[in-house]
Amino acid sequence: MARLIRSEKEVEGRYEEVWTLVEEDALDQWPAGPGDVVGRDTPRLDGYEKARGEARYTGDIRLPGMLHAALLRSPFARARVARIELAAAAAAPGVHAVVGPGEVRGVDGEASFEGYAVAAVAAQTAGHAHAALRLLDVEWEELEPLLDADEAVGRGSLVSPTREYARGDYERGLAEADAVVEAAYTTQTLNHNPLETHQCVCEWRGDSLDVHVSTQYIWGLRNELAEALGLPQDKVRVICEFMGGGFGAKNGIGNYLLLAAELAKRTGRPVRCALSRREENVVGGNRNATRQRVTAAARADGTLTALGGEFTCALGWGGWLPPTSGPMQLLYACENVKTVEHGAKLNLPPMAAFRAPGFVEGTWSLECVLDKLAAQLGIDPLELRKLNYAHADAMDGRPFSSKNLMECYRRAEPHWERRHEVRARSDEVWKRGMGMASQIWYGGGGPPSYAWVRLGSDGRANVVTAMQDIGTGTRTAMAQIAAEELGLPLDRVEVQIGDSARGPFASISGGSSTLPSMGPAVRSAAADAARQVIELAAQRFEREERLLTLKGGNIVSADGGSWPLSEITGLLADGQILGKGARGPNPAGMRVLTFGIQLAEVAVDVGTGEVRVEKVVAIHDVGRVINPLGARSQVEGGIIQALGHTFSEARLDDPATGVVLTKTLDAYKLPTIADVPEIVCDLVDEPDEHLTNLGSKGLGEPPIVPTAAAIANAIRDATGADVTSLPITREEVLRALREAEQRRKEPVAAGAS
Ligand code: MOS
Repeated sequence: MARLIRSEKEVEGRYEEVWTLVEEDALDQWPAGPGDVVGRDTPRLDGYEKARGEARYTGDIRLPGMLHAALLRSPFARARVARIELAAAAAAPGVHAVVGPGEVRGVDGEASFEGYAVAAVAAQTAGHAHAALRLLDVEWEELEPLLDADEAVGRGSLVSPTREYARGDYERGLAEADAVVEAAYTTQTLNHNPLETHQCVCEWRGDSLDVHVSTQYIWGLRNELAEALGLPQDKVRVICEFMGGGFGAKNGIGNYLLLAAELAKRTGRPVRCALSRREENVVGGNRNATRQRVTAAARADGTLTALGGEFTCALGWGGWLPPTSGPMQLLYACENVKTVEHGAKLNLPPMAAFRAPGFVEGTWSLECVLDKLAAQLGIDPLELRKLNYAHADAMDGRPFSSKNLMECYRRAEPHWERRHEVRARSDEVWKRGMGMASQIWYGGGGPPSYAWVRLGSDGRANVVTAMQDIGTGTRTAMAQIAAEELGLPLDRVEVQIGDSARGPFASISGGSSTLPSMGPAVRSAAADAARQVIELAAQRFEREERLLTLKGGNIVSADGGSWPLSEITGLLADGQILGKGARGPNPAGMRVLTFGIQLAEVAVDVGTGEVRVEKVVAIHDVGRVINPLGARSQVEGGIIQALGHTFSEARLDDPATGVVLTKTLDAYKLPTIADVPEIVCDLVDEPDEHLTNLGSKGLGEPPIVPTAAAIANAIRDATGADVTSLPITREEVLRALREAEQRRKEPVAAGAS
C-alpha cells in the first residue's frame, strides 16, 4: 500500500522535511553476516568492460552530425564585457553557431570570477571551435576583484548569512575548565579532479532534449534542465551509463550544459561540450579554503566543558556554506558549544560539494586541538575520546539509529598500543610517531528511490532503475542485493541503470547516500518478484507458500523438495514476472550517522621537514557491508585522496589578480601510487537495525574525513611540532619544528598555549 508521509531528507547534513510517497517496506533485514552473495568480496561486474575501454562514457558518445562547442571564458577575476563582436567568429570555417552574452540564462557580460563563460561557439571540430574563439573580438573592462575572505566578511560580502549555533553556557564551560587550548588552523582550496571532466552531448529530437552527461544526479539534472529551458520534465531525457567520478562537483547543472543545449537547438545538430583539464581546474568546482579559530576546554578528569570555533570559508562567487562546525557540534558529548561560520563571497570560482564538505575541514581543526588538549591534561588521546563519547545526538538529544564508534575504538587499541614501539624506532634524522582522529559524517540516505525487477522465462533477472554509478561500484552492489533476495547466482542478474527514460526515479549519488537510498528499493523490488515466483511455485508443486524459499537458483521447500527456478520461469514463454520496489522511510526520531577512527604512522625528517606516511589504519562503522571488496576500495580511495589533500594538493590563486595559477597537473600535484602507504581497513560490519530493509549506510565519504588530522597528530607525536595549515608542506613542518623548539626554551604559563 502506498502512503504519503512527512519524512526527513538529508543530503550532506542539509535536512529537509518533505512529503514522501512510500510503499510498505515490511521486509525483515537479513541476518547479520555474509549471505550467499551479499557480504562477499565481489569484483566489479563492469570491471573488465572498463579496463578494456569498452564501457561507454559520455566522452565516448559520437552522434551523427555532432558538433563541438568551445566556451569563451573571462581571463580576469572581475571584468565586464565592454564590447564584443561575434561576426568574424560566426563566419569562420566550420562554425555553425555563436552564442553571445545575454543569450542564455546565467551567461552574461559580467564576469565575477576567472573562467566565467560569456560566449560559446559550435563548430565542425573542436579545433574549428577553438580557432573561432580567438576571432571573438572582446574588449574587457577590468574591475577590482575582492579576494580576501576576512575582508569580504568585514564588508558583508557573503554567499549566505553567517550561521551561529550555541548550546549550554560556553563562557561558564571555559570558566570551569582546568585546561583551555586555543589554536588557529587553515585549509587550502582543492580541486576535485575527477578522471572524467565535466562533459555532455545535447541532442534535440523535436521538442524533446536528450542529454548524455557525466552527472551524479540524473533526475536532479533532468528537473533543473527542464526548469531552465521551460520544458515539461518528461521532455528532458538524461543518460549517464558510466561515469568517471565526480566527488560532489557533478551534483547539478552547469552553464556549459545550457550553452550546449542552446547551440544544439540553433544548429539542429547534436552538440558536444567537454571541459578541458584546465577549465575543470578553474571552474569545475572546488573545496573551499578555510580559516579557523578553535577552542577546546576540559576539566582535569578529561570531561570536555567547552568547544568553540569561528570558521571563515572562502566560498568564491557562489555555492553554499558547508557544515564546517558539524564535527564540533556532533562528535563529542560536550554541553557547552558555540560556533560561528562565515561564507565569504569572493571574485573566485564558486565552491562545490566535495567528499564530506565542511566535515573534512572541521575535523582537521577539532581533532588536532583535541590532541593538544590531551597533551596538556596528560590524558591519552584515545582515552580522551572515549571519555567524551556521545551516546545521542548532542544537538537535539535524538538517539542514533546505530553507533558502533566504541567498537571502532576497541579495535583501534592493539594498533594504538604499538605507538611506543614506533616511536622507539626514531633516530637522529627520522622521528617516528603515531596519531589518531575520529570521524563522524552523514550517509543514511533517504526516500524516495524506486527499482523494477523483470524475471524472464530464461530465469535471469533484470534490475531496472534510473540511477547512476559515480564510479563506486553501485551497479555491482545492486546486483548483489537482487541476487541475494532472488536466490540467484550473481551471473544471472543484469543491472540496467543510467537513463531517465528507461527506469524509475533514483536519488543522488552524493552524501554517501547511493547505497542506503537505492539498495533498499532494489531489495524490495526483488522481494516482490520472489514473492510472485513462490506463489506460482506453491500452485504448481502443491506446497504451502510459507514453506518455500529461493536459494542457489532453486525453489526450495522446507519439507524437502527442491526444483530449479526454470521449472517455473520456463513456463512463462513470453510472460514476465515484474517486481517493483521503493525505498522506505528513515527511522522516525533518530539520527543516522556514520562513525570511525583512523590511525596514522609517520616518519618525519627533522632536517628537511619531509614526512613519510608509513601506515594508515582505518576502522569505520557504516552498518552492513554489501561488498567488502568494493568497500575496501572506497576506504583506500578516500585515504589516498586525503593524502593528496594533506601534503601536495593546493589551488593557488594570484593574490593580486585572483587568477588561478595551478591549472595543470604539473602545478596541482595529485598523489600517485608512490605516495600510498600500507592501508589497513577494518569495517564494523554490523547492520543498523533501524535503517531500512538492509541496515547499510554509505561509505563514499567517511574515509576521507579524519586522515589529515590523524597525520598531523602523528607528526606531533613524533616531533612535538604542531602543524596547523594544510597542505602540510616541508616549510610548514620546519616552521612547526622551530616553534616547538622555541616553546621548549621558553615555556609559556600553564593554562594558555
Ligand atoms: Mo557530495 S561531496 O557529492 O557527496
